[in-house]
Amino acid sequence: MNVLLLGSGGREHAMAWKISQSKLCSKLFIAPGNAGTRSCGTNIEMAPTDFDSIKKFCTDKKIDMVIVGPEEPLVNGIVDFFANDKSVSHIPVIGPSANGAQLEGSKAYSKKFMQRYKIPTAAYREFDLDNYEEGIAYLKDHPLPIVLKADGLAAGKGVVICQSRVEAMAEYELMLQHNKFGKAGKKIVVEEFLKGVELSMFVLTDGNHFVILPEAKDYKRIGEGDRGPNTGGMGAVSPVPFADKRFINKVESTIIKPTIEGLKKENIKYKGFIFIGLMVVGEDPYVIEYNCRLGDPETEVVIPRLKNDLLELFVAVAEEELDKVTIEQESRVASTIMCVSGGYPGSYEKGFEIKGLNKEYPSGSFVFQAGTKTEGDKILTNGGRVLCVTSFGDTVHEAVDKSREVLQEIDFDGMYYRRDIGYEFMS
Ligand code: AMP
Ligand code: GLY
Repeated sequence: MNVLLLGSGGREHAMAWKISQSKLCSKLFIAPGNAGTRSCGTNIEMAPTDFDSIKKFCTDKKIDMVIVGPEEPLVNGIVDFFANDKSVSHIPVIGPSANGAQLEGSKAYSKKFMQRYKIPTAAYREFDLDNYEEGIAYLKDHPLPIVLKADGLAAGKGVVICQSRVEAMAEYELMLQHNKFGKAGKKIVVEEFLKGVELSMFVLTDGNHFVILPEAKDYKRIGEGDRGPNTGGMGAVSPVPFADKRFINKVESTIIKPTIEGLKKENIKYKGFIFIGLMVVGEDPYVIEYNCRLGDPETEVVIPRLKNDLLELFVAVAEEELDKVTIEQESRVASTIMCVSGGYPGSYEKGFEIKGLNKEYPSGSFVFQAGTKTEGDKILTNGGRVLCVTSFGDTVHEAVDKSREVLQEIDFDGMYYRRDIGYEFMS
């Protein structure tokens, strides 16, 4: 098969690495990819949201399947675009339709969806300029902390957790009156704060059947000890010790099954990943958010732990035969540590040479690149999250230690990474 993968992050490098190992893969193209994906296939300079160019490329190169990494093309309707154009409608695109992607694209939509199907989630109300005053009254009586969420996509920055009512009122006004998050914040969700432990679950569905992929724990804060501002993700581990069979069964019956049934009932075309962000309160899972894609950096531990041929899974999705598939997971622990540019998640400089790459890494360790690009034979930093090192180990401790060892060899100006990934699972 000729495959086109859209995206350019560490998630896409991990997916490209796995796809390139598939016995079904003839040619793999990554658009636009990064310096790391070059070792798995051919990078193509093409934006994942430029549907016309993607269509032309698919026709010219006889592409048999398109796999979408990030959310934006999905929310913009790439699946519908292909389905509605006779010249490319035969090419399966792995991902939900625009309607399905609304589970991530609109928090208000996903909250209503969860309410309709009695899926456990934090209590909430939604407000915009039309019911602005009602929102003020609601905030006055709301227990603290208060969670405010911009309805639309806000590059992971649209959630504000307010510790006081004054702060909540100020944020509320900033979002609704002063367009703090632009169009994404024209509507907001005000939500009850859930105190618990976060967990990322990943489901692959063909619209009818589903399989559950390995779960992961993501470390979102920039600083060690989970301090400082939120980032895209500074590291991850999989499996997560408390997510035992009993717990996963509970998530399956209270969340995953009603989600898939809900999508079916509403005739929403969904052939792709559902990333369910959970807050586990006591022993009970609540949905904090749905995403219509895999997580980053979770993918960099989930995909290495997946023993199945990834393209075979995608073919089963396209043919609606996921019920014939059994997921096989590597039982060892995988951990990943993300290296970021100095200053991230605030402003940072790009273009620093990365030294120590392209070496033979110890067995069971992998470098997945994210914000990187090539210049001649050099690899330069090209983003906030630059690269991550994933390692397998018998314990979280061993896996993290192995990644840290590899990181000793890698260097660029301003490089920073957390040394405490997996800390709560180490004895
Ligand atoms: P999101 O963009 O929805 O993933 O939210 C970003 C982060 O805010 C999450 O990873 C949680 O740490 C936190 N968060 C979101 N909603 C809640 C909530 N209802 N209660 C507590 N924390 C939350
Ligand atoms: N690591 C969280 C995300 O991909 O949204």
